[in-house]
Amino acid sequence: MTERLFLSPFKGIVGKRPPWWMLRQAGRYLPEYWEVRNRAKGFLDLCFTPELASEVTLQPVRRFGMDAAIVFSDILVIPHALGQKVGFVQGEGPKLEPIAVDRLEARGVGERLNPVYETIRRVREGLPAETALIGFAGSPWTVATYMIEGGSSREHAKVKHHALSDPLSFARLIDRIVTSTVDYLRRQADAGVDALQLFESWAGVLSEPMFRQWVIEPTRRIVDGIRATHPKMPIIGFPRAAGAMIAIYAEETGVDAINLDQMVPLGWASAAMPTKVLQGNLDPLVLVTGGQTLDDEVKRILDAMAERPFVFNLGHGVVPETPPENVARVAELLKARG
Ligand code: CP3
Repeated sequence: MTERLFLSPFKGIVGKRPPWWMLRQAGRYLPEYWEVRNRAKGFLDLCFTPELASEVTLQPVRRFGMDAAIVFSDILVIPHALGQKVGFVQGEGPKLEPIAVDRLEARGVGERLNPVYETIRRVREGLPAETALIGFAGSPWTVATYMIEGGSSREHAKVKHHALSDPLSFARLIDRIVTSTVDYLRRQADAGVDALQLFESWAGVLSEPMFRQWVIEPTRRIVDGIRATHPKMPIIGFPRAAGAMIAIYAEETGVDAINLDQMVPLGWASAAMPTKVLQGNLDPLVLVTGGQTLDDEVKRILDAMAERPFVFNLGHGVVPETPPENVARVAELLKARG
């Protein structure tokens, strides 16, 4: 099989340049995304139509030649498959209907997401042999925040109150998300992904005890669950904005790699997590700004990580305002290194 550069850091190999891809590399900043998006009835319909979802997955790779594609789907397909109504309102983000935790049915969730595995198989056929494919899911705490808050939230007051005042009910919710996510990710692995990423976008809002209980423990269970059937599958964790807890998360969940947000000092991350692959760190707004600022930041990150296993990426997702030519510039800067 062709060597996939994306996988070399996971084997401890440090080459002339690191592999790269970008969080949310498929999406609204690309005109060709809108062309396909407008053919679907809605965002979830796009995620569940393999013909369209695979096309959207391939678009950024075709244009920019990243070393990895990430399957086009969303972390909120799990609440949807658990039976909660999920809608995406243009300009407002996701809207989820209120739920009774004990009415959620975790069994059968894996099958209900069959279109995602079909997308994976189609993308694999359409990708160059040297390009890796990444599967993903939300981590339980982050998925639960959307399920309880009913959408995006700043303070997370409702979900924190639920976890603090009725920990048994909250544990049952987290348990259902863990079980269905393990099932979902194993099936993604069987469909042919090269690595899996767990998105904990709201890792940064919890006290240490709550972080241990609701971020580390459930994530560790997912990692163990995947390893039980797919012992070699590289797993990337993304505990966004979790500060000093990031290194504890890395150690205790057992993930192979950590996606760093743009707030993490690279010297600290390298020293605190010497055995982990690191990924990320470019501020998505620097990618919007472009010019010399972008060139300087890319250089700073590449130089800081030149001697250790690293995957070049962003500290959070590409935003819709991003000029595509700035992504092309990053590709050029990386290519110039070898
Ligand atoms: O290219 C890729 O990265 C693959 C697809 C992907 C999407 N969402 C597509 C998407 C991935 C990996 C995600 C992850 C995701 N989804 C996260 C974790 C990463 C993060 O950003 O913190 C979260 C929290 C979600 C939930 C979600 N989905 C929100 C809050 C929103 C609306 C606001 C926003 O950021 O756009 C979505 C919608 C969504 N997911 C879009 C895309 C391309 C935009 C939908 C559209 O086309 O209208």
